[in-house]
Amino acid sequence: MRARSLTGIKPTGSPHIGNYLGAIRPALKLVQDYDAFYFIADYHALTITPRPEQLVEQTYAVAATWLALGLNPQEAVFYRQSDIPEIFELAWFLSCFTPKGFMNRAHGYKDRLAKNQVAQTDPDDGVNMGFFSYPVLMAADILLFSSQVVPVGQDQKQHLEFARDIALRVNTFYNQDLLLVPNPLIEQDVEVVVGLDGRKMSKSYNNTIPLFLPEKALQKLVNRIVTNSQSPEEPKDPESSPVYALHKLFLTKPQQEEVKSLYRAGGMGWGKAKSLLFETLNQVLSEPRKQYNELQANLPYIDTVLDQGAIRAREVARETLNRVRRVSGIRP
Ligand code: TRP
Repeated sequence: MRARSLTGIKPTGSPHIGNYLGAIRPALKLVQDYDAFYFIADYHALTITPRPEQLVEQTYAVAATWLALGLNPQEAVFYRQSDIPEIFELAWFLSCFTPKGFMNRAHGYKDRLAKNQVAQTDPDDGVNMGFFSYPVLMAADILLFSSQVVPVGQDQKQHLEFARDIALRVNTFYNQDLLLVPNPLIEQDVEVVVGLDGRKMSKSYNNTIPLFLPEKALQKLVNRIVTNSQSPEEPKDPESSPVYALHKLFLTKPQQEEVKSLYRAGGMGWGKAKSLLFETLNQVLSEPRKQYNELQANLPYIDTVLDQGAIRAREVARETLNRVRRVSGIRP
């Protein structure tokens, strides 16, 4: 039997090229080697109490995004967290094995404390219990499905350590391997994706290229990428240009050499370099964009996919939860 992988996706904001290359694409590759589970962490999003319309919209948007980028619901299990009540029951169980001190040390909570200190407000200002115990819910997401691996970025490493520590505490208390201890899968050598201004592409720098922009808007954004003031005639250094830095991420090695020699030969202005980049991007993104728009126009289809995923996920969930109940003295 194949080992299981599990990826949780928070329904927030529209994804950009950096998210795609850094997180989405590597996570989608897991179907090749694992029994891959993907879910939309909609109840996690509630910890920041979004408006209901916004939560609905972003849940569909994120589902459409992953489906458009190649998540195949025949190959993988794709569901909404909120459709699996077993997760929330396990979260309560796990919270009884989680020292409060773990949560006091959680990065997200500590950042909040630090901000409140600067603002000279109550230390726990703006901290609801959902936010505080977010890592316990995340541990339940993972442990319920006995996932061997969880692909995570640097920012989620501590959460995964909590999940491991909590599982070990449960296993120690009951003196058996009740919960499978998961491993983080940290993507090696993910390339830095630069944004429009040459810094790392990030929403907080406002320098992103969203994935599903209409063609015209995409072209406009590409034209905003910073360049130096070299004239068209001058030879250019591809390695120091954000235009090339983005372009190379979508090219094979031989194609990279070809484009680099165009830069170095001189006679190619920045306008031309950008239109080459635009053409490459548009070629890669036009099909997903079309799919995304079709999916967004067919929300009942998305619901069907997620409902079916939930049915499969709950089979696994019930098995784990029954075992947990039996072992802990709660009637299964
Ligand atoms: N906390 C993750 C994030 O902010 C989302 C998430 C929720 C998750 N539950 C998970 C990721 C379980 C992996 C496994 O991105």
